[in-house]
Order: sequence, then C-alpha cells, then structure tokens
Amino acid sequence: MWSRRAFLRITGAIGTTALAIRTRGLDDVAAASAAVAARSPDDVASDEFYWREIQEAYAPDRTLINLNNGHHSPSPRVVQDALKRYLDYENQDPVYYGGLINGNIERVRRALAAEFGCDPEELAITRNASESLQIVQDGIDLKAGDEIITTHQDYPRMLTTWDQRARRDKIRVTRLQFSVPTTQQDLYERFERAITPQTKILHFCHITNLTGQLFPVQRLCRLARERGITTIVDGAHAVAHFPFKIRDLEADYYGTSLHKWLCAPVGNGLLYVRKENIAKTWPLQAASERRSHDIRKFEEVGTMPAAPHAAIAEALAFHQAIGAERKAQRLRYLTLRWANALKANPRIKIHSSLEPGQTWGMAMVGVDGINTQALSKFMFDKYRIIVNGVVGGTPPGQVFDYQGLRVTPNVYSTLEEIDTFVDAMQDGLKNGVP
Ligand SMILES: Cc1ncc(COP(=O)(O)O)c(C=O)c1O
Repeated sequence: MWSRRAFLRITGAIGTTALAIRTRGLDDVAAASAAVAARSPDDVASDEFYWREIQEAYAPDRTLINLNNGHHSPSPRVVQDALKRYLDYENQDPVYYGGLINGNIERVRRALAAEFGCDPEELAITRNASESLQIVQDGIDLKAGDEIITTHQDYPRMLTTWDQRARRDKIRVTRLQFSVPTTQQDLYERFERAITPQTKILHFCHITNLTGQLFPVQRLCRLARERGITTIVDGAHAVAHFPFKIRDLEADYYGTSLHKWLCAPVGNGLLYVRKENIAKTWPLQAASERRSHDIRKFEEVGTMPAAPHAAIAEALAFHQAIGAERKAQRLRYLTLRWANALKANPRIKIHSSLEPGQTWGMAMVGVDGINTQALSKFMFDKYRIIVNGVVGGTPPGQVFDYQGLRVTPNVYSTLEEIDTFVDAMQDGLKNGVP
C-alpha cells in the first residue's frame, strides 16, 4: 500500500483543509507515480491514496456522476489551463502568435509518435476520429464493384461514409454481424470467410463503441496483407485506453480521437498512414502535388485555432505521468467493481467480456425486463448519473440485437461514484423504473 506518510509528503499538505483544496499538477502526479513505481499496476489499481491524486487533478462537476467518458472526456486541469493559455496568447495577434504556436506542433507529432509507436512521418494530427477515418475512406481510389468488408457494429458515421461512397462510386459494402461478447477467433473467421476476389478493404474497430468488443487487429491485418487487401482500423476508443503500439498492429491506416481516453482538449485526433500509402491517398481537403508524399497534406484544413493541438502535449505528459499500464488496470478495476457487484443477478446481462486483456474502461450492461432508455433516464433523474443507453437500430445505422447501458468511467472517477451506480441499478432491479 502507498503509505499515508508518502501521501502527505507528496501533497505537501500542512493540514486537512489544504488537502481538500490542493490542485494536483503534473509534478504531483509524477511524484505519486514514482512513489508506487515498485508495485505492479494491478496492485496500484486499488490504491485509493494514489488515485485520489489523479481525481484531484481534474475539475469535474461532482454533483453529477459522469459514466459517459467514452463520448469524450474532461481534460485534467493542467491541460485545460494550457488550452486557455495558448488561446490567450494566440488572441494577442492570431496570425503572428498562432504561427508561432503552429511552428512547435512538430514536437507534438514526435511525442505522439513516440508514445503510440509509429514514425512521426506517418502520423497526422487531425480534429477527431471521424476526420481521420473519412480522409482514408474517401481518399482511397476504388472502382465500381470493389468490395469493402466492415461490420454492423462499426461506428455509424463510418458506415454512413461507406454508404455514401457506394452511392457515389458503386462500390459494394458488406457488413458482418457477430454476437457479443465473442472470441478473437470467431471474429477472425467471420472476416476470413467473407473475403471474396472483389474485396479491397477490411474496415473494423480496434474495440467497438458499443460493448468494447476487442478485435484481433494484427491477425486480421496479416490476413488482409497476404491477400493484397488494405486495412483501416477504427481505434477511436483504443488509444490511451490500454497500452499497445500502432506499428505492432500492422494496419495500413489507423484513426483515433484524442479527446476520449487521452483527455486532450476536444477537437483532436490522430491518423496513422503506413508510409507507402501516403502518396496514393487523397486528402479530404486538397493539397498541392509537391506534398503528395508528406503526411502533413492531411492536415490542410484552413484556418483553425492552434491552441487545441498544442495542448495535446500537456495531455500526453499527464497520461505518461500516470503510466499507460497503471491507467488501463485502474479502468479495468473500476469496470470489474460494478460488473462483479451486479452480475450474479439473473436479470443482469453483461454484454462485454470480463476476461483479462479484453476489457478495460468500457462495458455494457442490460437488464431483462427494463427498457434501456427508461433505465438511462431513471439513472439521471433520480441519481444524476450520466450513462449512455444503447439500443440497436436498422440500416443505415448500427444493427445489433442486444441493448444496455454503456458504462465508461475514467481515471478521475471515484469508488463512491461507481458504487452509487451499483446502488442505482439495484434500486431499478428491485423497484422497477418509471
Ligand atoms: C468507434 C468510433 N469511431 C469513430 C468515432 C468518431 O469519433 P469523433 O466523434 O471523435 O470523431 C467514435 C466516437 O464515439 C467511435 O466510438
């Protein structure tokens, strides 16, 4: 256990009042992490003295319980402060100072590439995962009859993008279905069986936005490469959620948001393009021919503030101060805390795998006999818990036959908040919901 003495030394607290109001900065978080460095991330996952440091580095509205961080997450205070600082600086003379800030963005590119494992010359900084993935979906040459294989549980905007391309270029879009939770082998075989001589692209999530179902990304990318097929991986929920290196996935393209699990300011994303694919991929907004081979051609989007991209640096430093493995284990600990407390009830349906290495901070729970939207409304009306109620739709939307609450805490979530969610679910199970 992290000792109370170490806790007091690190916080520099003089009295309990100071403890309550002290704002944690990067140094505090780094010092707290140094104090637990000898222990395994699994062990630290349940050390509330340590996680109190992280909780206090954020400024959420604690009158609410936010279990919808998967949509996008609040930033730590240091990141929000950096964003405001850059905005103020830029506003003194937007052209001059915005230019100065933009001149430093190469450092952000290199830092992101080092942390997430790719060459900086393969990494574009975008505004979100939608932009990253649409650059690729609309930027790859395809002809009538070419086939894309994706799934019914891929993200709606990405499905819409393929549907539009089908109308525009007469490509064929095949959507696969799968039950949840399922195995890596099952997903692999579904794609393998579906491939035809016309298949040009496999497009799938690293983990889905619904149940957090993990995909066998590297195996699918190898399968595709053997058959001369391109891979596009939607990593919107994977980056900075659990540790991996992008290059190890062996994908051709990988897109993510940075305002979800990295907690960067809203309006940040990342696009990885394997070097040999850069020249043959058209940017969404035109760039000059001399930039054909330059990853920066995907960033030409006209005038926008420099501040959000600059503040990624602070978000990355905060993420590193916690440590990717410690963060992943804490997220898993929070998920298991609510899931294990509920799962014995036969009416509870956990739609996510609880096996190690499959699920971290995102899981879905349904209740037999309770309408999901009513349950989500009950959570907010009675308990002020914000949680995403998810129900399957029909094409062109996502199609799936389960429903439930998608629960996504983050590193600033407290055990009291998780336990209140459990109590609220028990209340609903016992007494019903309006
Ligand atoms: C799987 C998946 N892909 C893409 C996106 C799009 O992300 P953004 O809205 O940040 O562009 C999301 C957003 O939730 C998502 O969950």
